[in-house]
Amino acid sequence: MPGIDRLSFYVPKYYLDMKTLASERGIDPGKFYIGIGQEAMSISPPDEDVVTMAANAALQCLEGEDNQTIRSLIFATESGIDQSKAAGIYVHSLLGLPSTCQVFEVKQACCSSTMALYAALDRVARRPEQKVLVIASDIARYGIGTAGEPTQGAGAVAMLVSAKPRLVDIMPQSGSFTEDVMDFWRPNYLDEALVDGKFSIRMYLKALTHAWNDFQNDGGAPFAELSRFCYHQPFTKMAHKAHRALRNLANDDQEFHNSILETGLRYNRRIGNTYTASLYINLCSLLEQEKDDLTHDKVGMFSYGSGCVGTYFHGAVRPGYHKHHFGDIHEAMLDDRIELTYDEYTSFYEHQLPIDGSAYSIDAYETGAFRLAGIQEHQRCYERSAACAAALKKLHGAA
Ligand code: COA
Repeated sequence: MPGIDRLSFYVPKYYLDMKTLASERGIDPGKFYIGIGQEAMSISPPDEDVVTMAANAALQCLEGEDNQTIRSLIFATESGIDQSKAAGIYVHSLLGLPSTCQVFEVKQACCSSTMALYAALDRVARRPEQKVLVIASDIARYGIGTAGEPTQGAGAVAMLVSAKPRLVDIMPQSGSFTEDVMDFWRPNYLDEALVDGKFSIRMYLKALTHAWNDFQNDGGAPFAELSRFCYHQPFTKMAHKAHRALRNLANDDQEFHNSILETGLRYNRRIGNTYTASLYINLCSLLEQEKDDLTHDKVGMFSYGSGCVGTYFHGAVRPGYHKHHFGDIHEAMLDDRIELTYDEYTSFYEHQLPIDGSAYSIDAYETGAFRLAGIQEHQRCYERSAACAAALKKLHGAA
């Protein structure tokens, strides 16, 4: 069964603790820590964008792979950097992927990563000898002082999709729901998303209900067969709200144990919202943080994209999955981040790239293997760090 062969994520080196934001806004930190379930949010410095984060996530995911087998790179984002050119082409170039690898970008708010995954599954089902790289990368950005501000974050996830996956088989049954609503959107002329937060929560739950019913009609696993659940998480408390709704729908009267969700929420609690990447960081956290053996466990997954589309599907964890994840690397990456003061956070937030095409060079901050160096004649200029040379050698040495 086609599915997820490798899964890796990257977050910027900086974060804001929710206590700092709470204190600045005169709010009880319990509202953020408990009420919305967030401890911190990842903040990208001026020289990171969806491309640099994506390339870093993919670098990890592709280590030891034969890149010649990767025939497509599908990029999902709602923080796009260009109306025409797919951000994935910059990633393709930074990673030195073969010119025979086709690259394109998909969009439908936070669930475009799931559309990208499904496109990849179809491709490898037709051509089982090929692999597809799916990348979801986003910077969640709301206005300073708005209700959405504590639900920001930044990060990218990279998934290698194959016909014989090492991590998770993705089953063919799925359920969907689409409705034209304005719960969250970002017009081309704005850098920050507009959101009707309470309405978006109601739409998320409505989409979950309908997508679940459609999933059941499509022959999807009944609730009692699913032992774990992953959700799109604009903030981790949303997963609890969603799971409560799903249990009601399924008339589940078993006692709820927090452990069913908890290990899958650990990374997102420390990262914040990553839009398209969020559901798959949840899956990554579950596979890497859960101490119990998940082999053959069926995992229900709900993907929600405002506007809106919801999709319910499920996967089954492969035997030996624990030998193929990057748990230690991901934990170290989160532990090694630099905490920002409130003033540093606002200075990162306020940084703007020129829009007149003038030459502009960006100061160097702490980044992974790639950084955005500046702008020249309306073109983004990316750089590889010294550490990157060794990583790329490893990548191509394996081919
Ligand atoms: N201690 C513990 N919990 C507290 C608290 C405290 N001191 N103060 C408030 N809370 C709880 C509230 O009871 C509420 O819990 P509930 O949702 O279970 O009822 C929660 O914290 C949030 O409080 P609320 O007043 O509803 O927050 P808000 O008006 O600031 O808005 C969002 C919260 C999530 C709607 C807002 O951050 C937002 O718009 N985010 C962006 C959009 C989004 O993420 N949409 C989700 C679907 S994609």
